[in-house]
Amino acid sequence: MKSDDILNIATKRGFFFPSGEIYGAKAGFWTYGHLGTIMKHKFENLWRDYFLKLSDNYFEIEDVNILSEDVFKNSGHLKHFSDPLEDEKGNVKQFNMMLEVKVGVTGDEKMYLRPETAQSPYISFKREFMALREKLPMGLAVIGKAFRNEINPRQGFFRLREFTQAELQIFFKEDEFDVNFDEVKNYKLKVMDKDVKCSSLKIPKFYAYHLVKIQQFYLDVLKISKEKFRFRELDKDERAFYNKIHYDIELDMDSLGGFKEVGGLHYRTDYDTKNHKVLVNCNGKNIYPHVLELSFGVDRNIWALMDIFYRKEKERELFLFNKNVAPVEVAVFPLVNKDKIPEKAEEAYNLIKKDFNVFYDCKGSIGKMYRRMDEIGCIAMLTIDHNSLKNNDVTLRDRDSMKQIRV
Ligand code: GAP
Repeated sequence: MKSDDILNIATKRGFFFPSGEIYGAKAGFWTYGHLGTIMKHKFENLWRDYFLKLSDNYFEIEDVNILSEDVFKNSGHLKHFSDPLEDEKGNVKQFNMMLEVKVGVTGDEKMYLRPETAQSPYISFKREFMALREKLPMGLAVIGKAFRNEINPRQGFFRLREFTQAELQIFFKEDEFDVNFDEVKNYKLKVMDKDVKCSSLKIPKFYAYHLVKIQQFYLDVLKISKEKFRFRELDKDERAFYNKIHYDIELDMDSLGGFKEVGGLHYRTDYDTKNHKVLVNCNGKNIYPHVLELSFGVDRNIWALMDIFYRKEKERELFLFNKNVAPVEVAVFPLVNKDKIPEKAEEAYNLIKKDFNVFYDCKGSIGKMYRRMDEIGCIAMLTIDHNSLKNNDVTLRDRDSMKQIRV
């Protein structure tokens, strides 16, 4: 099975593995190893670079993970954030998925691990609005941990109890969110299995514009093919309790049996600002700002990249990662460990490590070293041999074609 193949490489090579394995890992908690951590940071940086640059008035903030009970009373999570759970007698009860923390010496003070990063921008909004000269639209992003006591954290890495979200909350005055719609109106959005012209969707312009920006992120930045990407609109019964318009972002993953959600675009209206009583004065009028939320599960996207770029060939397994996401971009090998070849290889390594993520390996046969690098999606491999000493050149092997040239 493909998911087993991916998990096998992920755990063996240091992408990710169950947390606390030596004590019997608990389901839904995973550790990122040295490769997975680089890949995760790369994804987060791509996300930052892309979405925060959509406007001069979008910024990132960082908040604590533990928030007071009042936050979740007012956000609606204490009441609504639950899944149905059947007990032994067959009765169905609502099970709240938030994780509780007891704070203070007596442990009397009840707080919660945040189930979404979104609440932090809402409760920080007033301060940032003042600091940023009271301009709307204004965006506040958080890339950080979220926690959910998932009843059934199956599907290995995909349904986690502790995970990372990258979310951008854009605050705006209702009916006053201007976007450059001309730029995107002819763009073809992939909605389920159809290409739909952006301007033909019966949704507000600001919403359609952000669907385009999200699709472009997946296709142009992450280089995911259009066949593997789609939006799915959720109807009233499927939507989260706070959403008025909700499209999920879905990627097609063989390992999970088809299209699965990795994020969403949520029009939350003034639901959150009203509930937190975030009333602000905007151009002489008191308003509750409306919120458009761009929400992404970082770990699900990492799994999706592993799934989509994985290939199994007759003699090898590999990931066809591009430079944007590959944890290791170049590898350097001395062909043999003698005759001043390792010294020359180190010279090459020191020269290129300033510009690339480089891995140096001198343990084992060249064939095995190549296979190991294929398995972590390393793009280019340089080998130094006796001729390199004479000609000051290397053998360059391309991962995808396995072709070798001297340069
Ligand atoms: N702030 C909105 C929000 O949290 P959500 O649909 O509940 O909306 C957003 O979650 C994203 O977070 C999902 O699309 C998914 O990528 C990720 N996510 C949610 N629950 C998850 C879990 N148990 N494990 C991993 N990722 C999860």
